[in-house]
Amino acid sequence: MDGRLISWLACVLSVIVVSSAENATTVAPPTTLNPALNETGICRKCNCQDNKVDCFDQSISEFFSLQEWNDLKGLKPTVVDLSENLITNVTVIGDLPIQVLNLSRCSIEFIENASFRDLQEMTTLDLSHNKLTSDRLSPHAFEGRFSPEEYEPLAAMRKLSLAHNELHSLHQDLFEHLPELTELDLSGNPLATIDHVTLIAISSLPMLKVLRMRSCQLTEIPDKFLHTPRYLERLDISDNQLTAVPQELEETKNLLYLNLNQNPIVNGSPRLRKLQELHMCNMRELRSIESGALAGLENLQRLHVSFNHKLTFIDPRALARPDDIGETYDWPTVKELYLQSNNLSELDARFLPRWDLLEAVDVSNNPFLCDCSTQWMVDVLVPVIEAKHANATANMVCNEPIEMRGYTMKHLNDIHRTMRCVDKYGHRPEKDGAMLLGTLIGVLLAVPIMLTLMLLWRHGYFGWLGLRGPVDVSRAFYKRAPADESFNI
Ligand SMILES: *[C@@H]1O[C@H](CO)[C@@H](O)[C@H](O)[C@H]1NC(C)=O
Ligand SMILES: *[C@@H]1O[C@H](CO)[C@@H](O)[C@H](O)[C@H]1NC(C)=O
Ligand SMILES: *[C@@H]1O[C@H](CO)[C@@H](O)[C@H](O)[C@H]1NC(C)=O
Ligand SMILES: *[C@@H]1O[C@H](CO)[C@@H](O)[C@H](O)[C@H]1NC(C)=O
Ligand SMILES: *[C@@H]1O[C@H](CO)[C@@H](O)[C@H](O)[C@H]1NC(C)=O
Ligand SMILES: *[C@@H]1O[C@H](CO)[C@@H](O)[C@H](O)[C@H]1NC(C)=O
Ligand SMILES: *[C@@H]1O[C@H](CO)[C@@H](O)[C@H](O)[C@H]1NC(C)=O
Repeated sequence: MDGRLISWLACVLSVIVVSSAENATTVAPPTTLNPALNETGICRKCNCQDNKVDCFDQSISEFFSLQEWNDLKGLKPTVVDLSENLITNVTVIGDLPIQVLNLSRCSIEFIENASFRDLQEMTTLDLSHNKLTSDRLSPHAFEGRFSPEEYEPLAAMRKLSLAHNELHSLHQDLFEHLPELTELDLSGNPLATIDHVTLIAISSLPMLKVLRMRSCQLTEIPDKFLHTPRYLERLDISDNQLTAVPQELEETKNLLYLNLNQNPIVNGSPRLRKLQELHMCNMRELRSIESGALAGLENLQRLHVSFNHKLTFIDPRALARPDDIGETYDWPTVKELYLQSNNLSELDARFLPRWDLLEAVDVSNNPFLCDCSTQWMVDVLVPVIEAKHANATANMVCNEPIEMRGYTMKHLNDIHRTMRCVDKYGHRPEKDGAMLLGTLIGVLLAVPIMLTLMLLWRHGYFGWLGLRGPVDVSRAFYKRAPADESFNI
């Protein structure tokens, strides 16, 4: 009995040992996590995994202390997401290899001096959607470590977002510790005018490549504003109060992308030789694009001119620039063209030299006049668009003349419809028939009436009106000048 019990126990024990050993190997952490990590405040509140600390929307109301940050060292965090919390004050963060720090949507009002001093590997700092004000956001917030070459830089910093805060103006030295910044987002701040100090702040960023100033209530772009950032490639000044294309844009010699959407721009022609992408949508005052207006854009590839409800005319030569000899025209090689939802009644075939070279095109939802001037759209453009995307022309619909209203250009193409011409006086062909009939009836009625009147007049019926009949006239004539007498003189 004893022997069997012992062997049974041994068997059970070995099973337990084996299974617990199995569990031990499977439970062993895959990364070299610090066992003490779970004890620190940060990973209790957030999700710590790999090199990411995810504290998104955890109702955190107090910023972590320096000690708590320092306890995180074993994790070697490179991405820390603290967005969507209730932190009002940012304080100093420990020496950590963080590259991306997200402090978006935290109601932040104040950033203590040199809070990011020890984040020497930080490239991206998102401070968007907070409550930073011009008065309280100090240049010292971005102070780095002492460096013999530069003034206490945060040397790795490339992307900074201050979008959607309450900045009326920027401190002129705000970026003095961020000398290598390439991307800056100031969108959604009530700047209204770019004052002198703001201009100095932006001018202190020589490496800037991307600048976003959407919805900043700007009424103008001052001179010299874009003079220093010589490498600027992308500029978004949409949803402002600009009434003309800013002259200052010509200072940006390397601009590739320009967004002017939602500005009440009436006119102006940007001359940006390298520009590849232009957005001019939702511009409520744009009525026409005149000859040569876009001719300065020699390298344009993507043109977005949509949702301009008053845009009624685009000159056939809007993109064409006279060549060097002045004998013919050159066009940019446009690859994408978006002209949907404007008020265009026609699109001239000469606007582009080769429609079949477009990679993407949308001209739908315009009140097209379907006559001989737009026949090319039915014959040429519809097949080009349909070849890229079936049914993409579904919203290319005739609005005029009245008997064509509602037909899609695709349908007209399917039935090989040849459309008549509306003459240059604006007469519509469908009215010509009615006019002809009217004229005919007029003539038919006029002849008998005239004959009757002639007869009555001949017989002197209009004497009471002071009109003599032809009888009196001929009598007087014969009395005064007999033909034979005058001949003899
Ligand atoms: C081994 O892990 C499983 C779940 O993964 C668990 O159900 C089981 O109790 C563990 N066994 C031991 C001996 O820890
Ligand atoms: C941390 O705690 C979780 C559960 O809260 C546990 O599964 C994990 O093994 C712990 N990690 C370390 C390194 O202690
Ligand atoms: C935030 O900092 C300001 C200025 O240092 C201080 O007056 C305020 O009490 C701090 N608020 C919190 C919640 O710590
Ligand atoms: C920061 O978080 C917000 C919201 O969670 C997100 O929209 C934004 O893209 C993040 N920023 C960065 C730089 O990842
Ligand atoms: C921040 O630093 C500046 C300059 O060193 C100093 O004048 C200012 O008092 C400091 N602010 C705080 C809140 O410590
Ligand atoms: C659209 O164009 C037509 C003429 O083609 C014009 O009568 C109308 O007023 C324009 N609509 C707007 C909103 O400008
Ligand atoms: C295009 O429209 C036709 C009829 O409206 C439909 O039968 C066809 O499936 C559509 N094709 C695509 C790719 O959506």
